[in-house]
Amino acid sequence: MRMRKKRRLDARIEACSDLLIARGSPDPNLKKTEQEYRALVDYAQLFGRRAPVHLEVGCGNGGFVAEMARRFPEVDFVALEVCSNVILTAMERVKREGIPNVRFLNVPAEIVRCFLPEHSVERIYLNFSTPLPQKSREKQRLTSPRFLSIYRALLQQGGEIWQKTDSEEFFDYSLRMFAENGFACRDTARDLHHSGYAAENVVTEYERMFAEKGLPIFRTVAVLQN
Ligand SMILES: C[S@@+](CC[C@H](N)C(=O)[O-])C[C@H]1O[C@@H](n2cnc3c(N)ncnc32)[C@H](O)[C@@H]1O
Repeated sequence: MRMRKKRRLDARIEACSDLLIARGSPDPNLKKTEQEYRALVDYAQLFGRRAPVHLEVGCGNGGFVAEMARRFPEVDFVALEVCSNVILTAMERVKREGIPNVRFLNVPAEIVRCFLPEHSVERIYLNFSTPLPQKSREKQRLTSPRFLSIYRALLQQGGEIWQKTDSEEFFDYSLRMFAENGFACRDTARDLHHSGYAAENVVTEYERMFAEKGLPIFRTVAVLQN
């Protein structure tokens, strides 16, 4: 189901522009943009300090990143989301609540390297990324080799990807891709909410929906190997 465009979308995004690093792709050809365009952030300027940086890819309405930023004030968070309609809710929430350590990228993940410097990210969160089970859409899955190579370039040595999903098929695919692309998985759980990791878990909007239906949540931490 297509979501109706939010009222005064552009004006409301503009009102949050102090939180926004970039919006849209300078060129519709993402491959070309990824190779040729660079507008790298200076974290010290962006956050007014230099702290560890965590990136959430596909932040949706921003409930997760807002809560993480509150719990971990010593970390700076970049929340990336391609859909303007959705990221607006996240930006307005962070602005309203005066959370100081979150900034936003309203761009496709395919071009994140145009904005974040290489090896500058300590951790990446992939929460309930669309599983895209069709073989023809494998390249668009956020744990396909194409994206893992992007994350490898962004992550610091020993950096981590924290993944959660409701889809067992997508989870098994991701575990295989991590192993084949230079990541070693730890702290894997096939029923997160009934595991030892439940107490520290910050629940996302999609996660709440699936958990209320009694569905298991899958999670792993993929650690970049040298
Ligand atoms: C199923 S939702 C999950 C939202 C949120 N993480 C949660 O757990 O509640 C997946 C989100 O990822 C975003 N997304 C999918 N592919 C993306 C891409 N290539 N770049 C950026 N965002 C993407 C979608 O727009 C959507 O908001």
